[in-house]
Order: sequence, then C-alpha cells, then structure tokens
Amino acid sequence: MSNDSKKIVLSGVKPTGRPHIGNYFGAMKQFVELQDKYKAYIFIADYHALTTLQNADQMRQGILDLAIDYLAIGLDPKKTTLFKQSDVLEHPELGWIFNCITTVPYLSRAHAYKDATAKGEEVSVGTFDYPLLMAADILMYDTDLVPVGKDQKQHVEYARDTAEKFNRIFGETFKLPVPLILGEVETVPGNDGRKMSKSYGNHLPLFSTDEEIKKFVMGIKTDSKGVEESKDPEEDLVFDIHKLVSGDQLAEIEKRYRDGGLGYKESKEILIENLIKFISPLREKRAEIADNYEQVLQILTNGANEAREIAKLKMVDVRKKIGVSI
Ligand code: ADP
Ligand code: TRP
Repeated sequence: MSNDSKKIVLSGVKPTGRPHIGNYFGAMKQFVELQDKYKAYIFIADYHALTTLQNADQMRQGILDLAIDYLAIGLDPKKTTLFKQSDVLEHPELGWIFNCITTVPYLSRAHAYKDATAKGEEVSVGTFDYPLLMAADILMYDTDLVPVGKDQKQHVEYARDTAEKFNRIFGETFKLPVPLILGEVETVPGNDGRKMSKSYGNHLPLFSTDEEIKKFVMGIKTDSKGVEESKDPEEDLVFDIHKLVSGDQLAEIEKRYRDGGLGYKESKEILIENLIKFISPLREKRAEIADNYEQVLQILTNGANEAREIAKLKMVDVRKKIGVSI
C-alpha cells in the first residue's frame, strides 16, 4: 500500500532514560542513515515502557526527552515519520487481535519472559504480552526491515510468526518483516569492560557534559603497562572508545600503542578531547531543540497523523478479514 517503491523500515525505543554512546553507535546512528534510503517510521514505545515505568512525571519527561534526542542526532521529520506509539490506538487494537491467535506456551518461550520468571519475578500480563504489541507495531506498516539490537531479534521473529499465522487463518494480510541486526559486529563496552548499559552504570550518556566525559574516561579500566611498553590496542578499553571517535588519529594512536611510548594517561587525555569534540555539537543542537518545546510537540502530532492514516487503512482490511466489520 506504500505510495512509492521505497522499502519500509520501522523501529521503536522505550522512553526510559538518557541514551548512551552504546545506544548511539549500536542503534540510533543507523536510524539516521537509513532514513535517506527507506521510508522510515521511528516511534517512542511508551506503551512498552509502561511495563516497567509507572510514574507519570517520568513517563512524560522520558517521552519528550527521547523526541528531542532523536531530532538532535539528525532524524528529519520530513523523511521520517516520528511518533508516539500511544497516539496510534490501532497498535493496541491489533495487539489484542494477535492475542487471540497466539497460545500461552508459544509466548512463554520469549527470552524476556523466561529471564524474568527465572529470577522469580512476578511478571505482569503486559510483560508477558510484550512481543505481540511489538508485532502489531511492526506489522501495521507493512514493514520490510526492523533495525534493532541483537537482544530484540527474537521479538522480530515473533512478529514474523504472528504474520504467518494470521495470514494462514484469515488470508494474506501482513508482510513478513526481516530484522536488521545492528551492533552485532561491535558491542560498545562500558568503562568496566562489560557491555555498556544503563543498568550497569558503566555508561557515557550521549549528551553528556564535559565533566561526565572526564569522569567516564578516567574510570576506564586499564592494565598496568608503563608508558614505554608495547600495548595491544585490541586488548584495551580506551582504544575501543577511540575507535568510535578518534577517526583521523586512529592509525597513529594504534602505531604508538604497538611501538610503545603512548601511556594510558595520555591516551585518555586524547580520548577526552575527541569525545568532547564529538559530543559538544550534539549537545548544543539538543539544547536548541529543547528550547523549541512547542515545535517538538508539533512534530509528534504531525507524525502521529501520518502514522494513523496508514494504520487506519490497515485496520479496515484487518477488521474485514476477521469479520467484525459488517
Ligand atoms: P541498555 O542496555 O543501556 O538498557 P537498551 O536495551 O535500551 O540499552 O538498548 C537500546 C538499543 O541500543 C538496542 O538496539 C541495543 O541493541 C543497543 N545497544 C545497547 N547497548 C549497546 C552497546 N553497549 N553496544 C551496542 N549497542 C547497544
Ligand atoms: N522492544 C524494543 C526495545 O526494547 C522497543 C520496541 C517496541 C520496538 N516496539 C518495537 C523495536 C517495534 C522495533 C520495532 O528496544
């Protein structure tokens, strides 16, 4: 039903906190690159966030922050339909329909659900049902590609299976989406060497202050090799972050690691400088956009209108297929 031949990409992020450079290099940066080639739908997954975020002020702030973050890294509302999931009620409607054709044992195999029950948590119905709302998000727009991190791969498989099942029962209706796995090649490490993650507190926020940058870099763990000793760059966490932001200087830094003569202290100072160079323009752009609060709300309203138009058409077909429109 798309009005041009461009393939459709769609992805969503939960408004649950400040993004970090792992999120940016692993996922968000690619959203910006993809918008030039594809018809892109990027949304704020607020109803998914509700499974864990149950505080109205934090939810409101999280939604607005994420919208600003997206605009600041370069999502262009002229190219990307940027919207908030809860503005398009067709999503939960389709999610309900999927509930009715999905079995409990099948959904019980979801990693997120299994992990939560293994930890002895009392899982909410929303958490259990999470993959089917996500299937609705994806299938609503005849999505071809879903750019996500490795951890979301199974969810996209749930969406494919759900599309197949619906099509089998009610006739051809949904396109089968393919996950586009981002950040598989390179997981950005945090300053303790584990995967960078909000939940480990080892992260550098994407829009951080100079002070936060310094604190993060100074906290990067290194071994105890002396300045003149030869170092293997592939074994060093400081170098891992250099790879992201030290572009032109990278070959020289690598050589100085191998030859000896570059100590961790100096390497960290160069890294701080390069991180500040990379982050400060993003931070400034973010501040400008945040000042224009009304415009951000307008972008979300326009995005919701665009998305709703497609979703409405899709649901006319779905309701006809299942027989509720008489
Ligand atoms: P977190 O683990 O910090 O809570 P999320 O689960 O919200 O991050 O991840 C949002 C997106 O960013 C996902 O697509 C995920 O794969 C990607 N991502 C998260 N952490 C990293 C990382 N350290 N390196 C690369 N990509 C990451
Ligand atoms: N589950 C995704 C995450 O935790 C967020 C999400 C919700 C999503 N709906 C989606 C991602 C649809 C891609 C497509 O990161």
